[in-house]
Amino acid sequence: MSTLAGKHIVLGLSGGIAAYKSAELCRALVKAGVTVQVVMTEAAEHFMTAVTMQALSGKPVFTSQWDSREPSNMAHIHLSRDADAILVAPASADFMAKLLHGRADELLSLMCLARPIAQVPLILAPAMNREMWANPATQRNVAQLKADGIHVLDVGQGDQACGETGDGRMLEAEEILEDLEAFFTPKVLTGKSVLVTAGPTYEAIDPVRGITNLSSGKMGFAIARAARMAGADVTLIAGPVSLHTPRGVKRVNVRSAHDMLQAVQVHVPDQGVFVATAAVADWRPANSAEQKIKKDSSGQTPQLSFVENPDILATVAQSAAAQTGALFCVGFAAESHDLLAHATAKRIRKGVPLLVGNIGPDTFGQDDNALLLVDASGARELPHGPKQELAVQLMTDIANRLTLHAGSFGVGG
Ligand code: CTP
Repeated sequence: MSTLAGKHIVLGLSGGIAAYKSAELCRALVKAGVTVQVVMTEAAEHFMTAVTMQALSGKPVFTSQWDSREPSNMAHIHLSRDADAILVAPASADFMAKLLHGRADELLSLMCLARPIAQVPLILAPAMNREMWANPATQRNVAQLKADGIHVLDVGQGDQACGETGDGRMLEAEEILEDLEAFFTPKVLTGKSVLVTAGPTYEAIDPVRGITNLSSGKMGFAIARAARMAGADVTLIAGPVSLHTPRGVKRVNVRSAHDMLQAVQVHVPDQGVFVATAAVADWRPANSAEQKIKKDSSGQTPQLSFVENPDILATVAQSAAAQTGALFCVGFAAESHDLLAHATAKRIRKGVPLLVGNIGPDTFGQDDNALLLVDASGARELPHGPKQELAVQLMTDIANRLTLHAGSFGVGG
């Protein structure tokens, strides 16, 4: 279930061609369990009909401050009082200029001005031509709106409806949804840097063949996403997977265990937390052929021999930063049976304060999982649920450990 489930959002549309994306956004919000009240300016109605937005939100759309359907004729007051936020998408240059001056000559800007600032945050998704976005007047307005406590989302970059290319596109619906989820996530990891490894590694036999494993990377990507939403600065070192990079996360793609170790060593200095979810191949072919190994007519099969890969987690856990408590290391264990016993032994073997066990064959490629958190004092279960929810719970748990044990955590007995 999305963290947005049960929220009540006023979705405001001002005038801009990006309004077509607001239809998709409305649908995605409703699908996430949000109650959506759409409010449109007159300019927005030139780009999108109220009929479409009503059908998608399942609620009558409001477009005028003179609308008499609300009690006491005060739509600008009643429509936003129970809202968890007002989200204006698209927010045009003109609408932002209007907000800046506290003008209120139509329903949407009137609602923004009349909202109780402490209870109903205002979030803007700007959308405009690149020259309008770059104009000093717009940039000045954005800076002042932020200073006034209004949350202004980034703009996208790329082809624009006017035929030009540059900054100013409205973010895509799924990007806005992700930023909205981040907005509502408690910032328990603000100021922390988190490094995550995820996915399988691929060990080449020759230029066209190799050995790998069934890890999908989904749990690691969910953890990177949850850490970023909790306010952390996140670097994700990913083996070969085709998953979408979580917003705001810096991603480094690698292939082999050796590449992964190198990337970890480059990025681990200055990190506060290291979460190793990657299913690193234990062995690699001793010799990777430079050319494709061809069949010959003898019927002989190639003889492969293997060497052991470096243990990335154990290497990092031995570093001075981890040993002094400046770096909190978390390992994962994908087991097939006897989870508690294997996870307990693996935590000590890897030299980490926290090890998260899961049953690999039950979870590879799935969106759900169940986790067992094992530390020096015992084990705690995070029951079966979506990987994204488990990742949020794990990040909260890690944040608590960082606060409670600052400077004093260790592997323990
Ligand atoms: N790990 C690592 N480098 C390796 C092997 C494992 O960093 N070469 C990390 C994984 O990312 C995970 C933890 O160590 O956090 C445990 O991985 P797992 O594959 O379960 O354990 P192994 O050490 O490979 O032990 P075994 O395969 O015998 O269970």
